[in-house]
Amino acid sequence: MSFPETRLRRLRKTVILRDMVRETVVSLDDLIMPLFVRPGKNVRNPISSMPGNFQLSVDLLVEECKTLVADGIRTVLLFGIPETKDEHGYVACVADGIVQQAIRAIKDEIDDIMVVADVCNCEYTTHGHCGTIVDGDVHNDLTLETLAKQSVSLAEAGADIIAPSDMMDGRVGRIREVLDENGFYNIPILSYSAKYASAFYGPFREAAESAPKFGNRSTYQMDPANSNEALREIEEDLIEGADIVMVKPALSYLDVIRRVKDTFNIPIAAYNVSGEFSMVKAAAANGWIDEDRIIKEILTSIKRAGADIIITYHAPQMAAILKKEKQ
Ligand code: PBG
Repeated sequence: MSFPETRLRRLRKTVILRDMVRETVVSLDDLIMPLFVRPGKNVRNPISSMPGNFQLSVDLLVEECKTLVADGIRTVLLFGIPETKDEHGYVACVADGIVQQAIRAIKDEIDDIMVVADVCNCEYTTHGHCGTIVDGDVHNDLTLETLAKQSVSLAEAGADIIAPSDMMDGRVGRIREVLDENGFYNIPILSYSAKYASAFYGPFREAAESAPKFGNRSTYQMDPANSNEALREIEEDLIEGADIVMVKPALSYLDVIRRVKDTFNIPIAAYNVSGEFSMVKAAAANGWIDEDRIIKEILTSIKRAGADIIITYHAPQMAAILKKEKQ
């Protein structure tokens, strides 16, 4: 009996051949780097659970953005840590809010950068929840009003993309409506559509000082056990006018990314969140893994699952990895 004619190893024989038949390639154009901005001057507070990440004052944030752009990372996602907080998150809706200041400074000094503004209340409320509290829970429709105000204010400051991450029902529609009313009909909405109530956000809440003071986010963020519901969330956001939809976190939800990709013909973003980042850093610090290879494999897997855009704290290191490969 002759050996089967198919030998899949034939196409794995050389580097050139493997490079040629590779199905998935992560490019720096796909990546978005999240950054944290806080008041002050010359402030660079390390975030202990996220090695290599910092809370930066506006002046140093601008420098960081210049470095990122020089290294090929041209899109950043901004989160703010405000001077003061209030019950509803009004501090995030004003022209001199911390993220508004940051956007203006970045846009003043850097031409070829895109700024995505996260829209949410949790960093700005005294209780750490994503909206206005009524009877011990976040009130959906009242929260839509602060989200709408915050969105318009961020657009006025010069945000290129508005990215609501609160998981209120109807927020994409409401935000689209007020953006259009204010002349911002060309600003896309990147909706955190399928955002799960995840333990993987732990380090971020230290970074953004946004942990809820009571309860949890399970009445608005999704149950990690559900994926049919993710498709409903995304369908709803598309009807309301979302331009890009997001699945978050990424790694435990690659199946969800793939289902979304197979169901809808739209750009998909995936958020490789803080906990996913910190686990890699912790294992690498212990010498247990090959950090560069793990990072590349993780980002490739997210793209292979169907993500067009990846939000990741690994972005600068991925830029360095790709540069090293080219040498
Ligand atoms: C909420 C928000 C969160 C993240 C991004 N936007 C946290 C939360 O919902 O508590 C998490 C990002 C990460 O973990 O890297 N505004």
